[in-house]
Amino acid sequence: MSHNPQNKPVIAVVGAGPGIGEAVARRFVSSGFIAALLARTEGKLQTMVSGITSSFGPGTARYYLTDLRIESQVQSSFNLIHSELGPASVLIYNAGARRVNGRSILDTTSEEFESFTKINLFGAFWATKCVLPDMLAAEKGTIIFTGATGSLRGSAGLSSFSPGKFGLRSLAQIITWEYQAKGVHCAHLVMDGPVDGKLIGGVTRRKWEREGEKEKLIEVERYIMQPRDLADIYWFLYEQPRSTWTHELDVRAQKESMFSKL
Ligand SMILES: NC(=O)c1ccc[n+]([C@@H]2O[C@H](COP(=O)([O-])OP(=O)(O)OC[C@H]3O[C@@H](n4cnc5c(N)ncnc54)[C@H](OP(=O)(O)O)[C@@H]3O)[C@@H](O)[C@H]2O)c1
Repeated sequence: MSHNPQNKPVIAVVGAGPGIGEAVARRFVSSGFIAALLARTEGKLQTMVSGITSSFGPGTARYYLTDLRIESQVQSSFNLIHSELGPASVLIYNAGARRVNGRSILDTTSEEFESFTKINLFGAFWATKCVLPDMLAAEKGTIIFTGATGSLRGSAGLSSFSPGKFGLRSLAQIITWEYQAKGVHCAHLVMDGPVDGKLIGGVTRRKWEREGEKEKLIEVERYIMQPRDLADIYWFLYEQPRSTWTHELDVRAQKESMFSKL
């Protein structure tokens, strides 16, 4: 545990980017956690770690280069986290892969279906297997999966995305049935609409600019979910007392119009 001398609780943010992933890491670090950030792009990870450590102090975040499509890489990263920081008491599986503009099944390659499904689903199974033994030994742990509208509803063009997200939802239910009574709180959080992260937030803002949607650009938070506000929901789920554990929660911006659950 050479990199966690104060023995802080450890959160693993699996699929850590500048949107939800970083916001969740910041939220937990601000309350005393040390964050392990897992993703593939070293430059982005370095920027996030230096931003978090300059806000909250040295040693509050470390990164672990990982391609979640490869089980051995997931295992190696969690072994390293374990030896450098200690066991993860919170696992956030946040990675997701989809096309911004959908494609029909006939135009979707099998390679894309396999690659995206590994990111949307398999990585979560592998990461869960890495953290469960320590959580069970401690009789305590939190696992939160990031879902999407596509977790609940198949839509044209999303064959390489939605099936993996449906599977992720099912995996969250199975974890609950198998391990909740043993102390593991698993929650599936459905983001029912766009999030103001770098990619989708940027695309949405540029579209509004082209279309002269000034009100939307001024009141962004009424239209697209803000990562900082979402991060508070992850924290709320983590903090729930054992008498009232939420298994599934869905959220959307005030003026979102494509509700999937209503
Ligand atoms: N953005 C939205 O509008 C929206 C809406 C509804 C639901 N969601 C859900 O929210 C989650 C993402 O949140 P976000 O959009 O704010 O993104 P984010 O937290 O900014 O970034 C997620 C990170 O996941 C990493 N990732 C993807 N594939 C990976 C792989 N094979 N191995 C390791 N890391 C991988 C990517 O980093 P690298 O490329 O560096 O690996 C990416 O930066 C997804 O589960 C998505 O389905 C998003």
